[in-house]
Amino acid sequence: MKTDPLFSAALPVPCFDAGSEFCPCSLADLGACVSCSVLRGENSCTCGWNGLCVYHHYLANGKKARSEKRERSGQVLSRNDLKEAKGTAFTVKVQVDPFLAQALVFPGSFLLLRPEGSPVMFNVPLSVMTLKDDGAIMAVQVTGPKTKALSEACKEGESVTYTGPFWSGIQEVRHLKRFASRRTLAVAKGIGQAAVIQAARYVNMAGGTFKALLGPGTLGVIFADKLLEEAGATVLKLPRQNDHNLTHIYAEVTQGGYQAVLSAGSERQHRGIYDLLQSLKDPPAFVWTSNMTMTCAQGICGSCLAGGFRTCKAQVTPEEGLGR
Ligand SMILES: Cc1cc2nc3c(=O)[nH]c(=O)nc-3n(C[C@H](O)[C@H](O)[C@H](O)COP(=O)(O)OP(=O)(O)OC[C@H]3O[C@@H](n4cnc5c(N)ncnc54)[C@H](O)[C@@H]3O)c2cc1C
Ligand code: FES
Repeated sequence: MKTDPLFSAALPVPCFDAGSEFCPCSLADLGACVSCSVLRGENSCTCGWNGLCVYHHYLANGKKARSEKRERSGQVLSRNDLKEAKGTAFTVKVQVDPFLAQALVFPGSFLLLRPEGSPVMFNVPLSVMTLKDDGAIMAVQVTGPKTKALSEACKEGESVTYTGPFWSGIQEVRHLKRFASRRTLAVAKGIGQAAVIQAARYVNMAGGTFKALLGPGTLGVIFADKLLEEAGATVLKLPRQNDHNLTHIYAEVTQGGYQAVLSAGSERQHRGIYDLLQSLKDPPAFVWTSNMTMTCAQGICGSCLAGGFRTCKAQVTPEEGLGR
């Protein structure tokens, strides 16, 4: 295999799909694997990944990629509008394949949804909040053309196109998993609340403690409290404060004995909490929700590129992934 200068410059980083049934993907065939330096044409392995070897998988699969994540049709089982929200927002339950549903229980799980019959550029990444009776429940905030089109398509009894499973909704998720049996604090505002419910359930099932500080954010409503409590979390609703509750968060972090802090909200929120943690002597691990634009979520379209990384596949550190 020859090094392709197009791809050899970027550092290999862990991939969210490595070791899954979807690895290796088309990026391996193109010499652009996110994590395997050998598949990118280097002479030696520098991946540092101690799970299943991506290169070995590629050889075992006859030097070709495995199948892509398929799109399917799913019926809209129910829709509930969040009436107190600023603008249009709603929760929707979409019927999903039961085998696929089993893969949506991990923190950071999401699906791509779009109106049936529309092209892939309409794909909207949506965090899976919970799974009930063959349906995945998600929340949608209408912010632009894709979410508006989806809102118009999400009518009870109609069908939408969904693709998945995807797991790259939470960066540095390895810390959540590593400390799952200990103490995790989440700060979730606005539509970011949707991304913390599977994380709470995961921590609870591992025997750990999960506390969620919730705020309405630009969405204007707290909607995840009941689902979080059902998932075993302790919930505290944050009042609106001029300092965006950073004083409160500081007190909680310094007195709560947390090993991991999950920020779910805007980039500004992520940066504020990360900087706050960095000011501590022994900071807990920082984990944050992805706010990237995503279209394919399979490493091809480039919508999610940040600092040279395809963040729908690449697991990046705060230094690599958080904007200033
Ligand atoms: C992994 C992942 C999971 C996501 N989960 C959810 C989810 O569960 N529910 C949900 O509603 N959205 C979620 N999003 C965001 C959602 O996918 C985008 O809001 C949507 O794709 C925007 O497309 P659009 O064409 O409607 O708006 P765009 O034209 O792309 O955006 C319109 C404007 O709104 C701003 N904007 C976009 N998203 C947000 C946001 N979330 N909060 C505040 N401002 C925003 C943009 O900066 C832009 O200025 C998720 C995104 C990712 C990457
Ligand atoms: S969303 Fe297409 S490359 Fe990441």
